[in-house]
Amino acid sequence: MRALPLVAAGALFTGGALLSGPADPALALGNGQAFTPPMGFNNWNAVHCNVTESFIKQTAAFIHNSGLQTAGYGYVNIDDCWALPNRDAAGNLVPDPAKFPDGIAGTAAFVHSLNLKLGLYNDSGTMTCSKSHGFPGSLGHERQDALQFARWGVDYLKEDDCNVPASGQTVSATIARYTAMRDALADAAHVTSRPPIVFSVCEKGDFGVPASAWPSIGNLWRTTFDVHPNWTRLDAIIAKNIPLASLAGHGAWNDPDMLEVGNAGLTVTEQQTQFSMWAEMAAPLLIGTDLTKATPTTLTILGNQEVIAIDQDALGKQGRQVSDTSGLRVLAKSLLGGDVAIAFFNETGSTAKIATTAAATGVPASGSYLIRDLWTHTQTLVSTSSWAATVPSHGTVLWRVHPAG
Ligand code: GLA
Repeated sequence: MRALPLVAAGALFTGGALLSGPADPALALGNGQAFTPPMGFNNWNAVHCNVTESFIKQTAAFIHNSGLQTAGYGYVNIDDCWALPNRDAAGNLVPDPAKFPDGIAGTAAFVHSLNLKLGLYNDSGTMTCSKSHGFPGSLGHERQDALQFARWGVDYLKEDDCNVPASGQTVSATIARYTAMRDALADAAHVTSRPPIVFSVCEKGDFGVPASAWPSIGNLWRTTFDVHPNWTRLDAIIAKNIPLASLAGHGAWNDPDMLEVGNAGLTVTEQQTQFSMWAEMAAPLLIGTDLTKATPTTLTILGNQEVIAIDQDALGKQGRQVSDTSGLRVLAKSLLGGDVAIAFFNETGSTAKIATTAAATGVPASGSYLIRDLWTHTQTLVSTSSWAATVPSHGTVLWRVHPAG
């Protein structure tokens, strides 16, 4: 397998910083999981309903052997279409033996043998979102299914919200459904003596639940409709996710959906923008391309450790918007130790110069600053506190700024 062209880690400005435990949002779930945004892989954007055990195992092996695991990608997640349409006589979900001959337990055992973790998908309604296939949902089976998932060795659960009966489509009923699964997962962890399962809420605003309801229920929650490898959609997702910055914190993350890096439909610049903005917004980094066919360019984007370090920064802040001038946006993300990550994001159709100041981005208003570009991996020492970046159409320039006295 190809070696991943990993760049040197962005340790430049972080020396000596310890996890000093900044306050978490008061209501975060607190199951001890997802201290930083989850990183890994999910098959949906790559192969949609055509998931198989062999694909999941090949992907896990690739992540293990390529350097992606070392870069931080730890979850290998199975999405919809893994189950048989009918539960067994005892009411249990059954993995499709044609797709998963070793079952979910066997697949989990393989993934765990590589020191990776396994994720699985379910639905809070009567059927999963791939309704035409008739895969069963967990409504009314929360405890049984949670226990089953824990016994199989599942480490991460993405619970979708399709095919909910009309009576369940209110805000309070939706919160109750996800709360039932949250509690079922907690109990299952106790019963099986396994670590709590990361809980990924996939309600997407479908039933009008305000995002502020989710930090006490899930470790992450979808904030938008589905991502596609399409600029208009990606841009709309970013716009919806930005204003939710204050909800994010340790164990509780806004989820603007999975990565499309490597998939046809986005230019390389747009793919870099997704990766940069996901890092700036402290979003989960779930690879959504077929890694066994990934190009060196794809692997270079996904393996950019200086950008990953922004996403995974231990202060646990989502970047907040500093300014938006007709589609020229500036975001600033405070980092542990006093650095700041600044994203200059150009939504417009032409190259533009985007400006900001030290004061606006939250570093001392005067002094000197070491500015490092996280895509060119070059740095400059400056003593001005007004800055500008030239950003291509649909591009993002991402800086790490270190106050240098
Ligand atoms: C929904 C979710 C997607 C994916 C599909 C599977 O659309 O938002 O991420 O899980 O269902 O059917």
